[in-house]
Amino acid sequence: MPNSVPASIKRRLTQLKQEISAHRDRYYLLDDPILSDTEFDQLFAELLRLENQYPQLVTADSPSQRVGATPLSQFQLLTHVSPMLSLDNAFTKEEVLAFNRRIQERLKSQETIEYACEPKLDGVAVNLSYVQGTLQRAATRGDGQVGEDITLNIRTIQQIPLQLHGKNIPKYLEVRGEVYLPKKAFQRLNRRLSAAGEKPFVNPRNAAAGSLRQLDPKITAQRPLAFFAHSLGAIKEENLPPQHTLILQQFAKWGLPVCPQTQVAHTIEACLHYYQALAQERPNLPYEIDGVVYKVNSLAQQQRLGFISRAPRWAIAHKFPAEEATTRLLAIHFQVGRTGALTPVARLEPVLWGGLPSVIPPCGGCHS
Ligand code: IVH
Repeated sequence: MPNSVPASIKRRLTQLKQEISAHRDRYYLLDDPILSDTEFDQLFAELLRLENQYPQLVTADSPSQRVGATPLSQFQLLTHVSPMLSLDNAFTKEEVLAFNRRIQERLKSQETIEYACEPKLDGVAVNLSYVQGTLQRAATRGDGQVGEDITLNIRTIQQIPLQLHGKNIPKYLEVRGEVYLPKKAFQRLNRRLSAAGEKPFVNPRNAAAGSLRQLDPKITAQRPLAFFAHSLGAIKEENLPPQHTLILQQFAKWGLPVCPQTQVAHTIEACLHYYQALAQERPNLPYEIDGVVYKVNSLAQQQRLGFISRAPRWAIAHKFPAEEATTRLLAIHFQVGRTGALTPVARLEPVLWGGLPSVIPPCGGCHS
């Protein structure tokens, strides 16, 4: 028997769906988020909790049923050969331990489970399709099924090989990864934009997304975008290495950049140790991260674990807590709108944020 649903829950769900969709559009389509990562994650977690409790209220248009964002119309649309999925999030050690327990239960608990630990890169997810080793197409994730064709823009990224080299190159290969703007390049870009009287980007992720979504590839070419490959999409190849980390090594041999901070952990405690170590290292890394990702390393085990609607069961993103800072309220001004409505606007003392003077709270990171 499904639980009967109080009217207040129905109202809250409708409100959450609308709010989350609107924030996703601001984030993915307009590159202009107004919520912090944590605030967005909290809304999304509330939606998932309610939908879990009342599954009869899950509708096809719920943001929980969607993996990414609606594609922009100016770019040609490309249907992904295999869908680009999302990752479930863990915010606490207990959630990570529960993830490990679920995996142990689904596999046989006596089986050894090895994890690949990687930084969760705060960039833009892309899919690169190589035919006989030649870069044929590149697409954004879009809604996970259909993305935007950004081939011309991707070709301007020097780090991305137009031709793979080496042995055993598959007939067809999809490489998935993150396009990002290194921290220093982001600071330089924002200084340049400000000097030219243009609006600076809120964070490196938005700068990368904005740069990648330029309809004129010449503008993209001026932005020193970088790339790390982090997973395999569709492939026509029988002889795959049996582990995720070996696939990454194979990517590197073919000339694809992979993140040097990836490590193998033999226990979940070692994963948590990796998380702590990377959190310490985070300010010194040349790129932005917003957590770490743990992936079951064995492809055979990954296959047995499978997927739930929007994410694989064999991986989880362990997010870093939101960075917080305190500042002083200097003044409150009232803006008068066209209709005469008054909007109070706070003037805050700028604080140093990730090396940049900023006014808190900065919106940031990746919602996915
Ligand atoms: S693996 C099926 N590894 O996070 C899982 N994703 O929430 C495929 N991301 O859009 C993703 N760093 O682009 C993976 N080391 C990493 C990642 C990573 C960042 C992004 C990814 C995806 C999002 C999922």
